[in-house]
Amino acid sequence: MTFFGNFVDGVWRPSESGATLENRNPANTNELVGVFPDSTTADAELAIAAARKAYDTWRLVPAPKRAELLFKAAQIIAARKEEFARDMTREMGKVLDETRGDVQEAIDMTYFLAAEGRRLHGQTAPSELRDKFAMSLRQPIGVCSMITPWNFPMAIPSWKIIPALVCGNTVVLKPSELTPLSSVHFVKVLEEAGIPAGVVNLVTGGPAVGEVLTTHPDVSVVSFTGSTAVGKLVNQNAAPFFKKVHLEMGGKNAIMIMEDAQLDLALEGCLWGGFGTTGQRCTAASRVIIHEKVHDRFVETFVKRASALRVGDGLDPATQMGPSISEKQLQKVMSYVEIGRQEGATIACGGRRLTSGAHANGFFHEPTVFTNVTPNMRIAREEIFGPVVSVIKVSSLDEAVAVANDVAYGLSCSIYTQDINRAFRAMRDVYTGIFYVNAPTIGAEVHLPFGGTKATGNGHREAGLAALDVFSEWKSIYVDFSGKLQRAQID
Ligand code: UN1
Repeated sequence: MTFFGNFVDGVWRPSESGATLENRNPANTNELVGVFPDSTTADAELAIAAARKAYDTWRLVPAPKRAELLFKAAQIIAARKEEFARDMTREMGKVLDETRGDVQEAIDMTYFLAAEGRRLHGQTAPSELRDKFAMSLRQPIGVCSMITPWNFPMAIPSWKIIPALVCGNTVVLKPSELTPLSSVHFVKVLEEAGIPAGVVNLVTGGPAVGEVLTTHPDVSVVSFTGSTAVGKLVNQNAAPFFKKVHLEMGGKNAIMIMEDAQLDLALEGCLWGGFGTTGQRCTAASRVIIHEKVHDRFVETFVKRASALRVGDGLDPATQMGPSISEKQLQKVMSYVEIGRQEGATIACGGRRLTSGAHANGFFHEPTVFTNVTPNMRIAREEIFGPVVSVIKVSSLDEAVAVANDVAYGLSCSIYTQDINRAFRAMRDVYTGIFYVNAPTIGAEVHLPFGGTKATGNGHREAGLAALDVFSEWKSIYVDFSGKLQRAQID
């Protein structure tokens, strides 16, 4: 049995209560991946105290020096990419190609944002008064708490930790109870790269930890990725303390296929967007909105290809789709399949849990396609986070855009068309934070802002340079070298 600890003030340690939680392989629950602290309020408070103390010195380390440590971290992750990917497949279930991609995303983000250590640009501007200098610069904010999900167990912690550190903040991370190992790996790399004690702290556990991380007076920033329901709680917890809150939540993303689209290309996009990561991406293409002229032709091949996807253990190179993360998540998928059936949609393929042979000890479900879906159905409106795609027939681009927009979320959307006018109109009129042309809704790159509109977020973006806006705040500075009192707006 391998026990992994919390990382508090530079020391790996169990929970003060001694309580633990088990991390099991979702493809085979007989396999115990590791045992982790099931931390308490007191553990979280200790971590915040360590981060608070470390902030006083870390904020004064020159940003290019902070960045040197981060560059070193990126190199270490790159050297261990394969090991980290294998462990991630064991704890999370997605196929090896995808866990390699997840680790790669963490490497990319670390290199990209470490380079900001030599930029972190502010603005200088002319003053309206003589002999006066005006500038604004980014300041760190303090202790940042981070609550991260299980679907991108290394990439998403990196999206939050690296910009926070390069800006001069300190960190307390609570990863999902379902995927703590990838966070342990990431934090160990930061330790090895020489990040000083207390600057990054890791506390594994459940809602008790989350509660402290979102309400403690010494926490200045809360960055959360997860469900909209929990995001609402995080926001409410943090509001009375006026913490800066960054929320990244659900999606109900659509691929729109026009009658002039290259259908073969659209087909590949729908398979990857809908069933990649077993549909467990907030960017997953869970809706296909398709022009009636090509609907039947597309559906026929989509269904054939979806049912042929090989479902299994992500460590097997032949596997194309892994399990759901947990029994609870699988039950959610199954309940939506039932909801869709009752709403009158047609199960064109899939629809069942896989329970025999190699699937007996995991949380496997068939890739499922619903047709005859109307935009008002729950399966067309609510986030399922599983291998279930709803196909909706429309008769024009305008109708496609209206349907795409008519959901609570606004993360990602895409259009398949060869008509540049249609592509640009859709690009303008779909109200999401991310938009693709002739590509699926997944696959955002680290150097562009990532996030969504409406119930997907609260106006912030992570990744790209936008990440710096979450983890820094502006200070405007005026230096008057005239030697006399000058009055702005008066003299
Ligand atoms: C998520 O699902 O929470 O664009 C993140 C993508 C990935 C990130 C997804 N790069 O699909």
